[in-house]
Amino acid sequence: MATHRPLETVEDARRRAERRLPAQVYRALWAGSQAGVTLAENVRAFSRIHVVTRVGDAPAEPRTATTVMGMDLSLPVLIAPVGAQGIQPEAEVAVARAAAAAGTATSLSSFASQPIEAVAAANDKTLFQLFWIGSRQDILGRLDRARRAGAAGLIVTLDWSFPDGRDWGSPYIPATPGWKPLAPYVPQALLHPSWLFGFLRQGKLPNLGVPNLTTESRPQVLFFEAYGDWMQTPPVTWEDLAWLRGQWDGPLMIKGILHPEDARRAVDVGAEAVVVSNHGGNDMDGVIPSIAALPAVVDAVDAEIEVLLDSGIRRGSDVVKAVAMGARAVMIGRAHVWALAAGGETGVAQILEVFRRGIAQSLTAIGVSGVDALGPQHVIVPEHFYDAQDPAAAGTRTPAHRRQLRFG
Ligand SMILES: Cc1cc2nc3c(=O)[nH]c(=O)nc-3n(C[C@H](O)[C@H](O)[C@H](O)COP(=O)(O)O)c2cc1C
Repeated sequence: MATHRPLETVEDARRRAERRLPAQVYRALWAGSQAGVTLAENVRAFSRIHVVTRVGDAPAEPRTATTVMGMDLSLPVLIAPVGAQGIQPEAEVAVARAAAAAGTATSLSSFASQPIEAVAAANDKTLFQLFWIGSRQDILGRLDRARRAGAAGLIVTLDWSFPDGRDWGSPYIPATPGWKPLAPYVPQALLHPSWLFGFLRQGKLPNLGVPNLTTESRPQVLFFEAYGDWMQTPPVTWEDLAWLRGQWDGPLMIKGILHPEDARRAVDVGAEAVVVSNHGGNDMDGVIPSIAALPAVVDAVDAEIEVLLDSGIRRGSDVVKAVAMGARAVMIGRAHVWALAAGGETGVAQILEVFRRGIAQSLTAIGVSGVDALGPQHVIVPEHFYDAQDPAAAGTRTPAHRRQLRFG
């Protein structure tokens, strides 16, 4: 599936996804939790940070390449793990191929619609994302499968607290596959024939299975079955993570960190990286924007491990702001699924190119030779940026905050 005119921006991808997808499906990919405050603030926070530009020293070809957990990446943008991509026939495999062609890593959600074997075969920099579902024995089975499939690393996502009560209504995901449960939604689908045709051409229906959560005794597991199992599983602890570290000798990334003390605990359990993330505003609503949490986390880990960031990244200049404020790289969630919905593999390739161009243009404007040359001197963070937003704000300010505020 190709888009006729290449995607120009993430907003362009969002608009095309909105036109192409049935309303229920689009809303599932867009909506944040509860009132959507954090979803909006993630994006707004980036717009409040200014960039310091210089003239006359622009590099001829600014370097966008970096490394993350030992992987060489052509740009500091990775694909974030996003579940339920069965809204598009090739889903995570198409995303993995586009990321591989762009020279970057992809992540595969526990709730992905495609098996790890197919995705890792499409991109040798595939990170398997684990939610803590089931027993330690179940987890061991998933680790073993990821290892055998050739996963380049593991992401453990910690920030999920089963939020409900979305003001715009929760997305409908049928509990069983087949035409019958989907029948009430056929009129919506008929209004979006190109989306429907994408499936019918391949003789498929939107995929409700979660093939990476199967076991020998349960060869088929559906989305809601797995979600039910998850709700029955006690919340993951740092002790579980220390155990996990002993079972997985590849790179380990811990995702969903906002508090600097949690970042320290990730260092203590032996993770290689953390992702400062609020799940794109999909978990607890009203938490701080990730970018406001970043400097304190960077300060806390003190370069012992890598710090990545996601939530609210919509353009290359956002990536540059995050890197200048201490992130090694960023992950994109909605940006890549909107592009997938708008244009399949081609759409994802185009959106990664949009990011690459945006990063290079920002580096040129700032007058630095590469992403590795960015630092806090290249951004102006407004006074009070952290005041109402700092999770450790109870009277304390870290040196990172003071360093940032000097530029305000
Ligand atoms: C529809 C949707 C599904 C998601 N599913 C997962 C998931 O299965 N595992 C996970 O770790 N994060 C998941 N996330 C969070 C993303 O990995 C990422 O943190 C978030 O999308 C970043 O924010 P952004 O969408 O503003 O880029 C999901 C996000 C969305 C929007």
